[in-house]
Amino acid sequence: MFEFFPDNVLAIETSCDETSAALVNGSEVRSNVVASQVDLHKKWGGVVPEAAARAHVEAILPVIEEALGSEVPRAIAVTNRPGLVGALSVGVAAAKALCLAWDIPILGVHHLEGHILSILAGRTEVASLFPHLSLVVSGGHTELVWVEAPGRYAILGHTIDDAAGEAFDKGARLLGLGYPGGAAIQELATSGDPGRYSLPRGLSKDAYNFSFSGLKTAVLRLVETEGDRLNHADAAASIQAAVVDSLLTKASHAIEAREPKAFSLVGGVAANRSLRAKLGELCHRYGIEFYTPTLDLCTDNAAMIGLAGSLRLGRGERSGFDLDCEPNSPLPGLID
Ligand code: KG4
Ligand code: ZN
Repeated sequence: MFEFFPDNVLAIETSCDETSAALVNGSEVRSNVVASQVDLHKKWGGVVPEAAARAHVEAILPVIEEALGSEVPRAIAVTNRPGLVGALSVGVAAAKALCLAWDIPILGVHHLEGHILSILAGRTEVASLFPHLSLVVSGGHTELVWVEAPGRYAILGHTIDDAAGEAFDKGARLLGLGYPGGAAIQELATSGDPGRYSLPRGLSKDAYNFSFSGLKTAVLRLVETEGDRLNHADAAASIQAAVVDSLLTKASHAIEAREPKAFSLVGGVAANRSLRAKLGELCHRYGIEFYTPTLDLCTDNAAMIGLAGSLRLGRGERSGFDLDCEPNSPLPGLID
């Protein structure tokens, strides 16, 4: 279950708005190249699927060449689900062509499994990381997952409306900070008072599920009622505190119920300094290990796909050349 593929794996990730390729060997990330489309989508205030697919077509080969350098991969792992279907297709088509040309195996990888297994990067020993509890927070997902082992997952809780990343992005848009907004809110929040504006924490009685749509509505109302009086730094700090508090509350419920030895924080929103620090403190109080990847492995990247892919390839898993893209797809290997 913990055997990596014993050679170089090229990984490709194009599920949303980052074109990324990486070379991994076991848990070692040898290269991880990310070409972001943020500037392209900024002017529309969000990801435009057609534009994303075209930009992936332009970027994919140079990004793969840079990730490979002079190395030759012995297998390719590619994100084939979930995501924007046009965007995913670019990565999958490139992977198929290269696997055919080089006569090496191909494997489709689930994007969220990539985020969950991103904590494997650089570990000399991985078996002791499992089982653990994971908080997966990105632009599209907010999930509390029991990670029994790689490929064996139970979803304990999820968002019933917006994802945590969307809460940051929508808050940022209302404050005129542009897209994507998580990092911009974080920067503005450093000089703000998180207690200045009281914002809802969502579904506090529901044990593990999250809700962020009330926060978005409250921020909209705040912006309207305060008008020119609104202190943007205080508003950013208050939004960040509301998202972080909601995540912390549900994380502690799950820790108390499942009593894990360790907790991991993964996904784009895991790049948030306040969230990293507060979850780290929470885990320390409960006396459990806290794992979170380096910042470059939080937001979308191919290295995490390579890590997840290498473990599955190491178990002998392969996809066929009929590998399809699936825009919606549950985590593989769900257990009760
Ligand atoms: O995992 P990711 O790169 O893409 C998806 O799979 O969705 O996550 C992107 C999300 C965006 O919503 C972005 O605003 C958020 O992660 N994000 C952050 C930070 N950096 C990125 N949110 C809060 N604080 C950050 N520093
Ligand atoms: Zn992601």
